[in-house]
Amino acid sequence: MLPYEANVLTFEKRSTDRCLGVRISILASPVNRTLTTARALRGTVSVPADKSIAHRALLISALAVGDSEIEGFAADAADPQSTLGCLKALGIRFTPSSLNLTVHGSGLHGLRQPTRSLDAGNSGTTIRLLAGVLAGQTFVSTIGGDESLNRRPMKRIIDPLSEMGARIEATEGQTAPLTIHGTCPLRAVEYRLPVASAQVKSAVLFAGLFSDGMTKVIERTPTRDHTERMLGLKVIESPPGKVIEVQGGMAIQPGRFIIPGDISAAAFLIAAALIVPGSELRLAGIGLNPTRSRILDVFRSLGGDIQITDQRVVGSEPVGDLVVRGSSLRGSLDLRGDLVAELIDEIPILAVTAAFSDGSFAVEDASELRLKESDRIHALATNLRKLGLDVEEYEDGFAFQAKKGLTGSEFESYGDHRIAMAFGIAGIGVPNGALIRNSECVDISFPGFWEKLQSVQGT
Ligand code: S3P
Repeated sequence: MLPYEANVLTFEKRSTDRCLGVRISILASPVNRTLTTARALRGTVSVPADKSIAHRALLISALAVGDSEIEGFAADAADPQSTLGCLKALGIRFTPSSLNLTVHGSGLHGLRQPTRSLDAGNSGTTIRLLAGVLAGQTFVSTIGGDESLNRRPMKRIIDPLSEMGARIEATEGQTAPLTIHGTCPLRAVEYRLPVASAQVKSAVLFAGLFSDGMTKVIERTPTRDHTERMLGLKVIESPPGKVIEVQGGMAIQPGRFIIPGDISAAAFLIAAALIVPGSELRLAGIGLNPTRSRILDVFRSLGGDIQITDQRVVGSEPVGDLVVRGSSLRGSLDLRGDLVAELIDEIPILAVTAAFSDGSFAVEDASELRLKESDRIHALATNLRKLGLDVEEYEDGFAFQAKKGLTGSEFESYGDHRIAMAFGIAGIGVPNGALIRNSECVDISFPGFWEKLQSVQGT
């Protein structure tokens, strides 16, 4: 039994003027969540639509001339809602229906100057990708977000977008809110990414649509490739990296985007099924893009029993169903170099999973983790210590040796959805359960996560 009680306080869903009905509004009071030890996890579950693909589908549809359909849009995940809200403020019209969202695209030059500051909420993808689009407009706009987003580094996009001709005002620390004085056309550039970031790559590619020639982005470390896939851009492989080309003024065709389940969200439920003995969980329609699916190889390297069935291609993305069985995990993980960029969103749940193995865990070359929704190195090291592990923390990573006798605790989420979910999974795997503080932040990427985790226990 838990030594403490859940402190469940006010949590309200309220309608906003956003086109898709409900947006989760987190009111003043945080919600704590109690987890108890799980028996076997069984059943079939779906996960929210891929967040990265959803943002891009919205942006690309908005810049196309004509109507696009987005099927499987994560209607209630807060991050894609932020992109949708910003586009709405830029004059894009949306028509919702139960399965599809119709986006009435207005072409590259059809956006309208917003009458108020754009709100990217907690979403780094919204602010950075949209900044690329705003840089190519003939109006001035301001975009910012919540406290966490306004702390995250924006120099990484300010530099290339300024080189292309936009003028961007930021805080002294080069953080949001950003006031973007766009210009059209922007200068076409050849930009070598100084940081392994799909968001920076995509910001330059979106800006490249408004440039006066061929913009090239040179990527040394591979990162998720949804932007180049979905825009159908020319990609020249140049191992270990690649060059992506975008022609300024290229016409974007409206289309039908079918968004697969988010493998980064699925990773939490996969880990849950792996660590809880006797589990057999089926996850339907999960995106298996090779720049995202490395997590499955890593789980398998620990002895994780994961089968992929019914592999297919949906739209421009590979998709499959997964069957995950409780497994006795063995071995160590040593994550460094390019692997870190591929697994950047999965490191919280990988660290927790490794704690249930019998070897060591180490991650290096991961200073980017300090710049996410929270300082994830600090958050993970602190919470893993509460789980009973001796964790060494470095500037660019951390390490520990797994051991028996892990104990649940009160874990702080740091307002970070992936930290909350990772330690929620730890909570169902330890004998005394756990409590997650400010657990409502899971709504950023996985609304209904706690209920879903509950629903597969004991069925
Ligand atoms: C994302 C890119 C990654 C990732 C984020 C989503 C994207 O960020 O962490 O959750 O959709 O492009 P970086 O590009 O900053 O690594």
